[in-house]
Amino acid sequence: HRRAPRVATALRMPVRALSQDELKQQAAWKAVEYVKSGMRLGLGTGSTAAFAVERIASLLKDGTLKDLVAVPTSIRTYEQAKSLGIPLATLAEQPELDLAIDGADEVDPMLNVVKGRGGALLREKMVELASEKFVCIVDDTKLVEGIGGSKDALPIEVTQFGWDYNLKRLQSLPELEGSTAKLRRTKDGEPYVTDNSNYIIDCYFENGFIKDAQKAADVLSQMVGVVEHGLFLNMVNVVVIAGSNGVEVKD
Ligand code: 5RP
Repeated sequence: HRRAPRVATALRMPVRALSQDELKQQAAWKAVEYVKSGMRLGLGTGSTAAFAVERIASLLKDGTLKDLVAVPTSIRTYEQAKSLGIPLATLAEQPELDLAIDGADEVDPMLNVVKGRGGALLREKMVELASEKFVCIVDDTKLVEGIGGSKDALPIEVTQFGWDYNLKRLQSLPELEGSTAKLRRTKDGEPYVTDNSNYIIDCYFENGFIKDAQKAADVLSQMVGVVEHGLFLNMVNVVVIAGSNGVEVKD
C-alpha cells in the first residue's frame, strides 16, 4: 500500500468563479512546471491534456523550453502536437520517458484513477507506464471517494471480434457486480472505434463504485479479448487539482 498523499495548496482569491475549462487550464499549466528542457515526454489525451500540450508548445516557441521530444497517446494528440510544432517520436523510438501529463475521469484519495472516457486508455496506459513520473491533471469535479463508476462508466477496450461475447461475460463478472455493460456508440449509433481499431464497453455502476478495484483490474487483465481497462492503479505520482479555492498538488 502506498502512503497517504501529501497535499500542497496555492490559495488564491478568485474575483469570479472560474469555468471548468479555466480550471482545466490552471491544472495543466501547473503540471507543465514539471517539464524541463531535454525531457522526453508523454502527452495525454482529452480536453485537460490539450491545455498542457498547448502550453508546452508555446514555451518551446518562446525558447523557455528546449530539446523536448514527446510521445502522444492518441491520434488526436498527435495531430494537435504536430500542428503546434512539438517534436514527436514513437514509443519504440523513445521507450523511456521522463514525464507524462494526462487528464483523468475519476481520482480517488489514494491517487488511483479511471481513464478512458476519451477512448485513448490503451495508448495512455502504455505511455504512462513507460514514464518515470506521471502527473495527472484534473478539475475538482473529478474527485471521488471510490473509483470505477462514481462519476461515469468504467471503460474497457475490447477486440471487435467477439465483443458481444465479452459484453455478456462482463455483465456477469462478480468483480463488476452492480454494473451494466454497454457498447460505446457514436452519435450516429455506430460502434465507437478506438485508435487501435477496437471497441469500448462502458460499465455503468448505478449505486456506488467498484468494491475491489485491484481485484477487478486483475480479472479484467486476464480476460482474452479485453485489450485494456480504464483502471490506472498505483500509476499516478502527482495529481494537480484545480478548484474554486486554488490549485492543489498531491503527491
Ligand atoms: C482519454 C482520457 C482523458 O484523460 C479523460 O477522459 C479526461 O478527459 P477530459 O480532460 O476531457 O475531462 O482518459 O482517454
